[in-house]
Amino acid sequence: MEFIFYSTTLTIILSTVVLLFFTIFFINNRQSLRRSLPPNLLGSMGWPIIGETLDFISCGYTDHPQTFMEKRRLLYGKVFKSHLFGSPTIVSTDAKVSRIILQSDANSFVPSYPKSLTELMGEASILRINGSFHRKIHGLIGSFFKSPYLKACVTSNMRKLLLRSMAAWNEDRPIYIQDETKHIAFQVLAKALIGLDPGEEMDLLMVQFQEFIAGLMSLPINLPGTQLHKSLQAKKKMIKLVLRIIRDKRIDGVACSQHSKDVTDVLLNDQSAKLTDELISDNMIDLMIPGEDSVPILMTLAVKYLSDCPKALHQLKEENLKLKRRKEELGDPLCWDDYLSLPFTQSDKDMNSFNNIGFTPFGGGLRLCPGLDLARLEASIFLHHFVTEFRWVAEKDTIINFPTVRMKNRMPIWVKKEH
Ligand code: HEM
Repeated sequence: MEFIFYSTTLTIILSTVVLLFFTIFFINNRQSLRRSLPPNLLGSMGWPIIGETLDFISCGYTDHPQTFMEKRRLLYGKVFKSHLFGSPTIVSTDAKVSRIILQSDANSFVPSYPKSLTELMGEASILRINGSFHRKIHGLIGSFFKSPYLKACVTSNMRKLLLRSMAAWNEDRPIYIQDETKHIAFQVLAKALIGLDPGEEMDLLMVQFQEFIAGLMSLPINLPGTQLHKSLQAKKKMIKLVLRIIRDKRIDGVACSQHSKDVTDVLLNDQSAKLTDELISDNMIDLMIPGEDSVPILMTLAVKYLSDCPKALHQLKEENLKLKRRKEELGDPLCWDDYLSLPFTQSDKDMNSFNNIGFTPFGGGLRLCPGLDLARLEASIFLHHFVTEFRWVAEKDTIINFPTVRMKNRMPIWVKKEH
């Protein structure tokens, strides 16, 4: 059976995440797979074969994707049974239950993903593996993303790309925030993962990655002409590129060097894990799946909500301007910890809800998002430069929640440079 989490107190960020993992995050209790659902659990199994999937999807296309959960919660309680995407499912809208599952050890619950997704992931992908090997890889990647070294590199790279992009913003045409942030965040991610700089290879990677992710929500049929087939071909091309980078690193002696500059180095340098080049390259592409869309959508939604809430914008701007002026007076450049030092920008009040069981935008337990620090840093840098250097008027746009969260018109805004 499958478990789906949902919490009423989750913010739009979590719905981004839920949808980042393509609508649903299943927790699959292996021992009970063959057992029937608990008999006293209320809920409906819907139609034969399709169950309640169509209702789930159609709610996803509306302005209120949570309607599916809310309707059933009122009828059956916070935890109810259903039948979704071909499996009997327990849906949890109870934050405490969801938290217990997230915090449980890997023997009780393991995540699983729709077949189209697993077809595209390598067998040793961090998203698919479990147990001690998962803990090892998760730990290596998570600690690197937390390191001051990586934060300093990301800050300088992100700022360079952002300022270059902003310099081309023109007052007489709309700027599509969703496209701009996607372009920047992809390059920051590729640099952090495989050390790639902008250029022809980066362009190739971007094009192939878009083809690759188009298959994540496709029918799991691998025949010439199908989307899954095209996506697998795209992945092959990306793997070839990453393998070339790994071989160059081996020739340059990265494996013996002290300082890992990117995630590939971290995995190459780890002697105990003895990871093959194929496993590393596969994981680099698979790491882009949760990393590629989430951060730009966070930035885009931040612009949307700030445009809709002048009071919040004012407070955010004041705080960031104060920091900017202080640093200018001192003649110091902004460092990564400056960007993360502002209580309102960091929503410190809300973040203390990190201690609130209802707020788990980055998941929890063994599967806690290793990209958490990277995401917050990138969003903070973007917001700082955006609100201190521009005024803007946003065109009307709406949020689409399915199959992934995005803005219908790519969030067009008209900007004016602040003097
Ligand atoms: C706003 C940005 C982001 C949000 C809200 C977010 C959220 C999440 C959540 C909720 C999970 C847990 C899923 C689960 O329980 O299985 C997760 C896992 C993951 N995230 Fe993020 N994420 C973000 C950005 C990133 C970035 C930039 C990366 C960088 C590569 C990343 C890499 C990962 C990976 C590899 C996992 C799987 C961890 C595992 O299964 O061990 N995420 N993320």
